[in-house]
Amino acid sequence: MENEKTFTEIMDALVAECESVLKKYLPDPRNMPEGEQYASLVAEAMQYSAMAGGKRLRPLLIARICDMYGGRRELAEPFMAALEMIHNYSLVHDDLPAMDDDDYRRGRKTTHIVFGEGMAVLAGDALLNFAYETAVCAFSAARTTAETAAVIRSLKILAKNAGIYGMVGGQCADLEAENRQEEVTGDMLQYIHSHKTACLIDSGFEIGAILAGAPEEDIRRLEQIALYTGLAFQIQDDILDVIGDSAELGKPVGSDEEEGKTTYVTLYGLDRASRRVQELSSRALEEFDKLSVRDGFLRELILRLVSRRK
Ligand code: IPE
Ligand code: IPE
Ligand code: MG
Ligand code: MG
Ligand code: MG
Repeated sequence: MENEKTFTEIMDALVAECESVLKKYLPDPRNMPEGEQYASLVAEAMQYSAMAGGKRLRPLLIARICDMYGGRRELAEPFMAALEMIHNYSLVHDDLPAMDDDDYRRGRKTTHIVFGEGMAVLAGDALLNFAYETAVCAFSAARTTAETAAVIRSLKILAKNAGIYGMVGGQCADLEAENRQEEVTGDMLQYIHSHKTACLIDSGFEIGAILAGAPEEDIRRLEQIALYTGLAFQIQDDILDVIGDSAELGKPVGSDEEEGKTTYVTLYGLDRASRRVQELSSRALEEFDKLSVRDGFLRELILRLVSRRK
């Protein structure tokens, strides 16, 4: 990476692109389709949760990796919006009283606090369904049979990583592990992290490459990088839940302890957790350096996720 300014500039531009793509696809509560005005409130709750900032990590991975392999953004954009919608739905439901019971996210009141629990459940449902309605728009952008096949493959990855054998499976184990009498094993924790967090990050790493027609060997390697990065990302999230600053994080500190969660920190302590984040990040970078293409920005991003404060 040449210098700090370049990294920040690229990052800001990518985040802005992700937000404008998301905005373009999200339903507009003030401009609902003919006869759909009674759904405006849920559209407002969708906007409230999805347009509240956030790192936009997953869609920016799709965009940057698509560029890295010389792909067409037109094909990637519906997937960028869709993946961020799925991520936001997962957060709206994750914050509900029935789950982590958190009142703040990205520096403001969570969706259920503002719109009520029922509407937050519906906003999550609507974001999830609308994600697929959005992702299928990529078919109209496909120009060749190879591109159509890449869209089909990307849809399968998007759906699987969000569902029972992905994020939902991880959230299931996360809930089951709460306040357990018997000890939560390292194996179970690895399952929780790899599913609830690494799976959606995997969609970020894989989909841009697939749409751009990247070599199969690189796609397999990106899957591995996504796993290491995703595991490191969640352990760092757990660390920040203990030593982070809630104003900087935009979400409460101490939420895991309050909910009786077993995390990497409760199981192994802060020092070992930090070492594990470093180790996973090094492994991700080792694999990254073996890809057939180079990208200083993405390399730096993986490196910086280790020491992030939010
Ligand atoms: C939060 O994800 C949920 C976890 C997987 C830890 P992010 O940390 O990417 O949340 P935003 O999108 O930046 O708010
Ligand atoms: C969230 O893990 C993973 C999701 C699938 C939403 P956490 O529950 O630790 O995420 P935060 O800390 O609320 O963002
Ligand atoms: Mg949770
Ligand atoms: Mg939570
Ligand atoms: Mg957390």
